[in-house]
Amino acid sequence: MSYFCRLNTRSIVLRKGTAGHPHIMETSDIILGIESSCDDTSAAVIKDGFLLSNVLASQDVHKAYGGVIPELASRAHQVNIVPVVSQAIDRAGISLTDITAIAFTRGPGLLGSLLVGTSFAKALSVASGKPLVEVNHLQGHVLANFIKEYGKENRHPEFPYLCLLVSGGNSQIVKVNSPLDFEILGQTIDDAVGEAFDKCSKMMGLGYPGGPIVDRLAKEGDPYRFHFAKPRVPGYDYSFSGIKTSLLYFVRDNLAGDPDFMEHNKADICASFQRTLIEILMDKLIRAAKDTGIRQITIGGGVSANSGLRAAVVEEGRKRGWTTFLPEFKFTTDNAAMIAIAGYFHYLHGERTGLDVAPVSRIADFH
Ligand code: KG4
Repeated sequence: MSYFCRLNTRSIVLRKGTAGHPHIMETSDIILGIESSCDDTSAAVIKDGFLLSNVLASQDVHKAYGGVIPELASRAHQVNIVPVVSQAIDRAGISLTDITAIAFTRGPGLLGSLLVGTSFAKALSVASGKPLVEVNHLQGHVLANFIKEYGKENRHPEFPYLCLLVSGGNSQIVKVNSPLDFEILGQTIDDAVGEAFDKCSKMMGLGYPGGPIVDRLAKEGDPYRFHFAKPRVPGYDYSFSGIKTSLLYFVRDNLAGDPDFMEHNKADICASFQRTLIEILMDKLIRAAKDTGIRQITIGGGVSANSGLRAAVVEEGRKRGWTTFLPEFKFTTDNAAMIAIAGYFHYLHGERTGLDVAPVSRIADFH
């Protein structure tokens, strides 16, 4: 299974997160988070779990290629990292000396991209004398519901909870026993669900990244018009390569009979394909919740932005007595706020990372 995420680059757009937080001077634990695992350069500051800033530079340059080009991503990270980190510090209303620790994404992801963030974090640690804390990017997604924001309700799940972690590189059901104790109950044995969304869009000539495009078109289509084969995989594991192939043959066969088939039916195809992907995801999540007796349910990762999946989780939760937690949209895709919150938990647990740390592209190489 690949943990590479897919990138995308051209002009650099700076977006920011929280503003209007009370000015913080009576310092406790202030964590600077740095994320550079794929095609988003992001930096965030949290104080005792509360978000003070979250700055993100996304890379439009990849759009022209229909997928992330690793070398272009690394170059864009090099350009973005200094302004993004300094904006995060400025917008948080703090200075470098106020920071307690620097959390950074060590992996998994694209190695060149990770090298930029890791090297920057190490250099900043040396220059500032602040300790380093490494973070597993996937753990960031799983803990995103713990990011607190001023003026918000700030609900978070109780332990243990189940997290359906769905992104461009992963599809897992994770049992979260504590912030640092995770059990992977099931995972994809081949492709990730985000790849299935992206390939669907690509096969239909709709653009990249495919998830948001398919999601948008699906809202206008009939989800029961077409049927795609569902995998039979034991336990809580997933498989998405078969459904991709099923769509490929469907497209090829129908285009042979009618060259305008895709154009005339794209909303119904997207709705039917998305409905099938969501059913596959939900079937295993429901089974895991039943078997473990856990009713605290969260989702995370880029695909957790999908409107159909969000609605399905809420609806199943209502029927089954789950307490459900959906991350805010800005915390579904790659962002440094989730790295900062995960780093905060590691920091509280006494973990520190040495300067000899190297980034790792694959989850299997993490320790
Ligand atoms: O978590 P993420 O930003 O990057 C990885 O670490 O992989 O996830 C990116 C994936 C892409 O496959 C993208 O198409 C998908 O998340 N995605 C969506 C939606 N928004 C992003 N998939 C379905 N519906 C969406 N609304």
